[in-house]
Amino acid sequence: MAILNILKEGDPTLRKKCRPVEEITPRILQLLDDMHDTLAVAQGVGLAAPQVGVLRRIVIVEIDDKKYEMINPEIIETKGKQEEIEACLSVPDQYGLVKRPAWVKVRAMDRYGKIFEAEGTGLMARCFCHELDHLDGTLYIDRAIEMYGPDDIEDAK
Ligand code: NI
Repeated sequence: MAILNILKEGDPTLRKKCRPVEEITPRILQLLDDMHDTLAVAQGVGLAAPQVGVLRRIVIVEIDDKKYEMINPEIIETKGKQEEIEACLSVPDQYGLVKRPAWVKVRAMDRYGKIFEAEGTGLMARCFCHELDHLDGTLYIDRAIEMYGPDDIEDAK
């Protein structure tokens, strides 16, 4: 078990485009395990590899009992729109209103090299979009319609 350091906004690594995973090596599996440990401690719902300094197309999403490990994920279909508050472990104490699709379908590879599809609405849809954005160096603050600090989040909700 290893808790990785989560990079914060301003670190240039967060702004880089990640490379696809060509082969699932023991190192990639270790990274996935460490990302789960790191996300659990940080109490987040999603984490992308660049947030822990690895420029590879890997994200994990953990919402309630749904847990996904996504290697080389791609959004293949979306429907509708939603506007909700987002936050990011790399942007502490800030929140922003972001427009996302209401429903999202993602295709990715799991740790065994098998291709799978996952879909979600609400928070799950937002999380898929948010985490996949990280793989191209995009942060939600780039898309936010409005930003809030820790003092005005109660009003924003
Ligand atoms: Ni984030």
